[in-house]
Amino acid sequence: MKITNCQVNHLTDPLGFDMQETVFSFQVTQAAGTRLVEARLIVTARGTAVADSGWTENPDPRAWRVNVPLAPRTRYTWTVSVRTDAGEDAVSAPNTFETALMDEGWQARWLTCDRGERLPIFHKHIDVPADLASARLYICGLGLYEARLNGKKIGSEYLTPYCNNYHAWLQYQTFDVTEHLRAGGDLSVLMGDGWYMSRFGYQSKPGDSGLCGDAHKLIAQVVMTDAVGRETVVGTDDSWTVTRSCITFTSIYDGEHRDDTLPETAPEQAVYAEPPKAALTARWSLPVTAHETWRPIELIRTPKGETVLDLGQNFSGTFRMRVHEPAGTAIRLQVGEVLQQGCFYRDNLRSALAEYRYVSDGREKVIEPVFTFYGYRYVKVEGVSDLRTEDFTAVALYSDLPETGAIETGHAKVNQLIKNAHWGLRSNFLDVPTDCPQRDERMGWTGDAQVFSPPACNIRDGYAVLGEYLHDMATEQAALGGLVPNVVPSFSDCNRGTATVWGDAATIIPWNLYRMYGDEAILNCQYDAMKAWVDFLTRVDGDEHHWRDVFHYGDWLALDNPRGGVDQTFGGTDVGYIADVYYAGSARIVAKSAALLGKAEEADHYEALAERILSDLRDEYFSPNGRCCIPTQTAQILALHYPGVTVSREKAAERLRECFRETGGELRTGFVGTPLLCGTLCDIGETKLAYDLLLREDYPGWLYEVNLGATTIWERWNSMNPDGSVSSTGMNSFNHYAYGSIVQWLFEYAAGLKPDEACPGFARAKIHPHVDERLGHVEMRYASASGEYRISWAFAGEQLTLHVEIPFGCTAALTLPGADETLELTPGKYDYTLPKAQCVRHGATAPLRPDGWGRPSA
Ligand code: BGC
Repeated sequence: MKITNCQVNHLTDPLGFDMQETVFSFQVTQAAGTRLVEARLIVTARGTAVADSGWTENPDPRAWRVNVPLAPRTRYTWTVSVRTDAGEDAVSAPNTFETALMDEGWQARWLTCDRGERLPIFHKHIDVPADLASARLYICGLGLYEARLNGKKIGSEYLTPYCNNYHAWLQYQTFDVTEHLRAGGDLSVLMGDGWYMSRFGYQSKPGDSGLCGDAHKLIAQVVMTDAVGRETVVGTDDSWTVTRSCITFTSIYDGEHRDDTLPETAPEQAVYAEPPKAALTARWSLPVTAHETWRPIELIRTPKGETVLDLGQNFSGTFRMRVHEPAGTAIRLQVGEVLQQGCFYRDNLRSALAEYRYVSDGREKVIEPVFTFYGYRYVKVEGVSDLRTEDFTAVALYSDLPETGAIETGHAKVNQLIKNAHWGLRSNFLDVPTDCPQRDERMGWTGDAQVFSPPACNIRDGYAVLGEYLHDMATEQAALGGLVPNVVPSFSDCNRGTATVWGDAATIIPWNLYRMYGDEAILNCQYDAMKAWVDFLTRVDGDEHHWRDVFHYGDWLALDNPRGGVDQTFGGTDVGYIADVYYAGSARIVAKSAALLGKAEEADHYEALAERILSDLRDEYFSPNGRCCIPTQTAQILALHYPGVTVSREKAAERLRECFRETGGELRTGFVGTPLLCGTLCDIGETKLAYDLLLREDYPGWLYEVNLGATTIWERWNSMNPDGSVSSTGMNSFNHYAYGSIVQWLFEYAAGLKPDEACPGFARAKIHPHVDERLGHVEMRYASASGEYRISWAFAGEQLTLHVEIPFGCTAALTLPGADETLELTPGKYDYTLPKAQCVRHGATAPLRPDGWGRPSA
């Protein structure tokens, strides 16, 4: 028996994270028993026990709150011991967490310097005690910083202090610098512009100034502890000096310029800065680090005579390039996602220059941008005399999200689609969950994050990254009367509109995290913000349903707008209807959360609100006999997915079938309908149609883009025309994750694994594989918050074999393909062989299974 995945606040051995409380989690594997009987958690600091749960019966291993008296800058070690129902015992290996400064305050003061023509480097020589035992660096720099000791980068993180609502809060990071300092005390901090100081937002143009500030600012504090526990603190003060780097320009959208021929500069004195108004807090953001690295697959000479490297994969990140050019040679790199007629292309990046300019000093070296990132597959290279593919290395940058789920099928193109969705996630979880990584946006669009949050948590551990995003969202809401800006962080008024489905991220994402991870902490943290969003809607809605009338994106990029056209972005489903459905849905989530958090009166209030909105919605959008008057696929999908929208699921189901008959079986859905499309079809017994849509190879369908060589998920169903030409450049990205939500369907329906909301965090699962011979087989594993589930099925001749594994401590209700009744499963491995004819039962005979948002539990 082993104890694995030990975490505190859903982080493994966190160093310097903001900690309001301590919630522990762990998993038991390789046990003879099936469930935990009791456990004991002990926390020590400096060798002394500071918390001991004592032997506790049935603690929740997904979220065990053990109160630890937290002190600043303290390293804690903890172990958990468990006993199972088979009488086994085990103790975990020691785990750690370390607090940051907490309320101790800073001895350091904020510094700044002249803006100058070149990015500044702040310096300080530190005298290191001979018997140094440990040392930490606490640091925040605006816009971005990269700290070095003795010329060596500290840590492996990129783009610190990350991207959040700088008007409200700033994050400082903590680094263990013990080893660095043993080698010497030359501390230097290179400063960049980043989201804070370079232009940002889709209405900005190259040359525009930043939205948050115009001066580099730095605060840093090194705490050194010697062998007898004596502390020496060195913080930023006016003894620090400033020199100038060779970086002459840096911008998130426009790239970076470096000129190595520039002379060294004499040290200037750093000056004290006006401290930023925002609160300086310990980090929430996960580290963004370099993950995959690889070489170009091809060096292309294009018909226009351009030299272009093909990385073979669209992605987000940076690069390293070996240069060996004579002094004074100017090199320019530009990036793009696709080629057009074999030539370099980047019009769809719009105003983003996304380039790197370098002037060589004649010395051979490896160059790498520091304070920018690119979304790209192709690189146009100018100024290099003998370019070799081995000189260039692609570096994927994204937040450190542990992989949790994998799914593979017997269909090569579906497997490529899954891979593309993985790359969509990697490319768009660079600290903030973004819409896209390449053009002049790369922003935390709430709607995109909302629809992609469940699949994100299927394939990676999304708790911490989405938790930080929600925390940031709440800081925005606090200043905007509960309004959720369309993008988080918003940075400026031009991004502070709000809309249905987008703003509902404030309720839907926390609820998804609660369902997937089973920790009420997320509801506790977000409850006020969730409520504030619904209260905001109530104020806007008034007595006359004004929320229906404000600007909404609606079923964004759906294909059923009667006034279609290549640049059409709005779908055909009445936005007022969508607005009502999501308003009621958000109210119901708040009601359920209130019930869980023991706020019975508020639960009643929000449930009654949801009922009232639904009743008004039915009056407005349904016939008296319960037929939805909006003739679109998405309208019926919402009616079927969200309980209470329709009084007649049968009518909505029939109408949805009819909608598909009218389009000859083609989908017409956009951002709202698509994530729910295939699941809803399975729920009404139309599994074959769901598979028809998944497997469709031409437009509009998921495999259309796979056939056209996509290596990520496109923003539009028709981002590219069948002849390979880009369909429009106004708004067209080849790396948008929203339609990658099909991966959630593959987990939840094709493999068939869903969390049971009543026992969240997969303590109990609902398993119901929906099979189709065209997929051949499915193999899925999911490292849930409760342990690893595995489901696989395969067709062999006239039979279907099904394998299911339930982890320690969990239970599941299994519905076999084609069956109506469910089987109760306890931890263990199960194999079934079923006659094919019985499993593949399609059509209206299957039961209508309501799913989605239920009522609050009493
Ligand atoms: C973004 C989206 C976003 C949308 C708002 C676009 O420019 O890329 O994905 O949700 O605007 O409708």
